[in-house]
Amino acid sequence: MTSLSSLQATISKITTIPTLPTVITRISKLLQNPQTSAEEIGKVITTDQALTTKVLKLVNSAFYGFPGKIGTITHAIVILGFSTVANIVLTASILDVFRRKSNEGAAFDMEKFWLHSIATGAAAQAIAKFIGSSQKEECFIAGLIHDIGKIILCQYQPAAFDQVLQDAQQKQILFYESEKAQFDVTHQEIGGMLAEHWNLPAALTAAIKYHHIPSTSRDFFSVTAIVHCADIFVRAMDVGNGGDEKIPCMAEVAWNNLGLENVPLPTLIEKINDEIERSTVFLQMIN
Ligand SMILES: [Fe+2]
Ligand SMILES: [Fe+2]
Repeated sequence: MTSLSSLQATISKITTIPTLPTVITRISKLLQNPQTSAEEIGKVITTDQALTTKVLKLVNSAFYGFPGKIGTITHAIVILGFSTVANIVLTASILDVFRRKSNEGAAFDMEKFWLHSIATGAAAQAIAKFIGSSQKEECFIAGLIHDIGKIILCQYQPAAFDQVLQDAQQKQILFYESEKAQFDVTHQEIGGMLAEHWNLPAALTAAIKYHHIPSTSRDFFSVTAIVHCADIFVRAMDVGNGGDEKIPCMAEVAWNNLGLENVPLPTLIEKINDEIERSTVFLQMIN
């Protein structure tokens, strides 16, 4: 069994991942200052030309659905606002960090993993919109990265990760149950450590840490609960795959707390489906 300390050492190895901390930290600092102008934020983002291109591609995609062509970051900020653009930059940066990290020959299907992740983000956003939550963008990002701990384990502990995958499939158990047996910790804790290391907003960190057991997420329950439900919907709808075949049970406390107990399911599923269809732009970015 791999010890927690060796997993923490694993996390410390990935501190060299560049894009996320620098650009995101600089933007977060600027956003804290009410005097910051759209030009200043635009300048920081455009120091990274590749990132700028991706952000503009997202901004102009059907997923965000803004009419007309947005040609510059400054223009995007004026039209969409600081926080939306900051969230788009965060999304593009995260996708950038993990893109093209193929694991050829390994049993874990990265393509299906990302399909699952992007669909969970889209589903979380759809649920957030459905219940009138003001945190739809946070929900999208949280859904997108809820299983990010799996990528870390797959890349840095490949042999043990393959064993987890095999056990999950052969014993027909949930992925995190298999991880618990193999590592004693799960992708929730590993992803949570990465999120803390990156100084991601607390609501995102909580959603990553507690998405399988949302009742343990006290402070940021609603984003966690939305991601929990979105994850299960996407699995039940069979979009992508996160490494196991078993569909976990929906936590009643999450479902009820979001006020979903009396909603007509077909209507909600239709909204989720529409949002997933619009999210294909993210798949193109990960390849
Ligand atoms: Fe998970
Ligand atoms: Fe998942």
